[in-house]
Amino acid sequence: MKVLVVGGGGREHAIVHKLSQSDRVEKIYCAPGNAGISKLAECVNISVEEIEKLKEFALQNKIDITIVGPELPLVEGIVDEFEKAGLKIFGPSKKAAMIEGSKYFAKQIMAKYEIPTGRFKAFDRYQEALKFLKETWYPVVIKADGLAQGKGVFIVRDFIEAKEVLDLMMKKRVFGPSGDIVIVEEMLYGKEASIFAFVDGENVLAMMSAMDYKKVYEKDEGPNTGGMGSIAPNPHIDKKTLNEIEEKILKPVVYALKKEGVVYKGVLYAGLMLTKEGPKVLEFNARFGDPETEVILPLLKTDLLEVIEATLEGKLKNLKLEWEDKKAVCVIAASKGYPGEYKKGFEIRGLEEVKEAFVYHAGTSFKDGKIVTSGGRVFGIVALGDSYKEAREIAYREIEKISFEGIYYRKDIAAGY
Ligand code: AMP
Ligand code: GLY
Repeated sequence: MKVLVVGGGGREHAIVHKLSQSDRVEKIYCAPGNAGISKLAECVNISVEEIEKLKEFALQNKIDITIVGPELPLVEGIVDEFEKAGLKIFGPSKKAAMIEGSKYFAKQIMAKYEIPTGRFKAFDRYQEALKFLKETWYPVVIKADGLAQGKGVFIVRDFIEAKEVLDLMMKKRVFGPSGDIVIVEEMLYGKEASIFAFVDGENVLAMMSAMDYKKVYEKDEGPNTGGMGSIAPNPHIDKKTLNEIEEKILKPVVYALKKEGVVYKGVLYAGLMLTKEGPKVLEFNARFGDPETEVILPLLKTDLLEVIEATLEGKLKNLKLEWEDKKAVCVIAASKGYPGEYKKGFEIRGLEEVKEAFVYHAGTSFKDGKIVTSGGRVFGIVALGDSYKEAREIAYREIEKISFEGIYYRKDIAAGY
């Protein structure tokens, strides 16, 4: 089979790596890919939002299945376009991807079908939002409705901060139309968890749980990032909790969407807060998460291609996922300055010295035959162990072998477990 993976981050490297272990995969293309991915797949110089070009490529190269990594092409309807052209593609349709593309849509579904989530109010008028924010209790969470590359969520402590955020979204319109509707949400407390499930339109097959370290600095301080590390399984989720998440959140939302005329196929990602009253939804995403995928897929024993095909054919009911009985730890190495401004183009040394862990590349590319940095998150190092401690020790031992100017990583990933 010929497979095309759309994307070029650590998540896509992990997907390509897993697919490369399948006997049935003859050839993998990745658009645009990165330096690490190019060892396992042929990288194609088309960016993720060039849907028309991706479709032409898939038609010309007789791609059997396309797998979409990031949210942007999903929300813009890549799945609908490919299907119209008779191409097989793994991911939700444009309508279904609204669960990630519009937080207001997601919140309305959750409210209507009583799926546990924080209380909220939505506003499309500045003055009304301002009035509410004057009278409400703090802290609250303010969210832009649409996609904002993970930057559209703010926890605010008082009215002054709230007004600043509101101005940013509705007056300065820094997120463009994504901020035309704002959600003001109750602050939830607890540990966070990421749960992904394969969904075939009907059946829900949950994957192993994971935890994402979102903040840039140790002890969860500083601004949110795309993720500075991850571990799987999530140490705060036992079998009972996972079952509760499946029964009270994942299955009900797939049912709710269906009732609303939306068939969901692909990966559904629930970002959760494990509160005293039980798990509550912070957000849904329409795809695999990054960097959680980098710890989940290395533990998956089942052939990924087989699961993807079963999802597309509506046959998940007959499938059971098999997992390694191990813990996985991912530490992300970022460029100095990330998630703010940073410089690119620094040579990455020592990659070939890493023997006991995987290195999933994110922002890397080739320059004059050398591998150089080309993004904020540069790579993730992933180690497996019989305990979190063992996996953590391996990851940190191995990451020290790699260097580039301005390398930064958190030292506390998986600490304390
Ligand atoms: P989201 O993109 O909605 O998942 O929000 C990004 C991050 O903001 C989450 O991973 C949480 O750390 C935080 N967050 C979002 N909503 C809430 C909430 N209601 N209460 C507390 N933290 C939240
Ligand atoms: N790990 C967060 C995300 O993929 O959105």
